[in-house]
Amino acid sequence: MKNYFSSKVLPTPIETAEMLAKDFIRFTEEMKRFRENLYIALSGGSTPNLLFDILAEEYPNAINWERLHFFWVDERCVPHSHIESNYGTAIQRCFSKVKIPKENLHPIMGGENTLEEVTRYTGEILSVVPYSAGYPAFDLILLGMGDDGHTASIFPGQEHLFETNSIVAIAENPISGQKRITLTGKVLNNSAEIVFMVTGNKKRNILYQIITKDPLAINYPASKIAPIKGNLSWYVDLEATGNLSTLVL
Ligand code: 6PG
Repeated sequence: MKNYFSSKVLPTPIETAEMLAKDFIRFTEEMKRFRENLYIALSGGSTPNLLFDILAEEYPNAINWERLHFFWVDERCVPHSHIESNYGTAIQRCFSKVKIPKENLHPIMGGENTLEEVTRYTGEILSVVPYSAGYPAFDLILLGMGDDGHTASIFPGQEHLFETNSIVAIAENPISGQKRITLTGKVLNNSAEIVFMVTGNKKRNILYQIITKDPLAINYPASKIAPIKGNLSWYVDLEATGNLSTLVL
């Protein structure tokens, strides 16, 4: 199977986002030959914002948005109008500026009824996303990594979310206590392409431990991202790689 993404180290966050945007556009173009629609799951946090801005402002017409279905890897349990909403941010920075049908956006509802939302979102994923090896199989999942090595909303100490057979689960930010809803590890690792976008020197040590397969890396949920059949790529800047940039990612 062809890999559409490959690990790259770029000098700055903006150049990292630019490179990922170009590879993403090429991915959607080339996949046209094989698939009517593509199913993509997006993470939140601040790192993807540069990517959203670039896609919306520099390449709004370079993509057949109507063929793309976007889900969310995770969401904070806040209203979509809240500044911390991953969906709200993606709408504001990207999807409100491109021609994508509303029915192609599949947000997690961040309200209070977390258990109900886990059931609802699970059903939406099962009814839309193709299945493979017993789990929904996204074509692409975009992940970030927190300063503590979390990914999605799977935080250190919550590694059971990589073992559960559930597709969606309730999680909690251990520092703020903020409730989250997240895709689980088995769904994440079932994706055809998994792309990490990591920038900034705060993540350097953890990134180094994960990439060099340091035994201590098992403490970081991001180290448990290992696609079953798919391809894993890292799009990182020099700040995040330090001396790692001399290594092949
Ligand atoms: C979230 C994200 C989370 C994020 C990391 C990195 O909802 O916060 O999905 O997994 O990717 O926390 O966040 P930054 O990009 O802000 O460093």
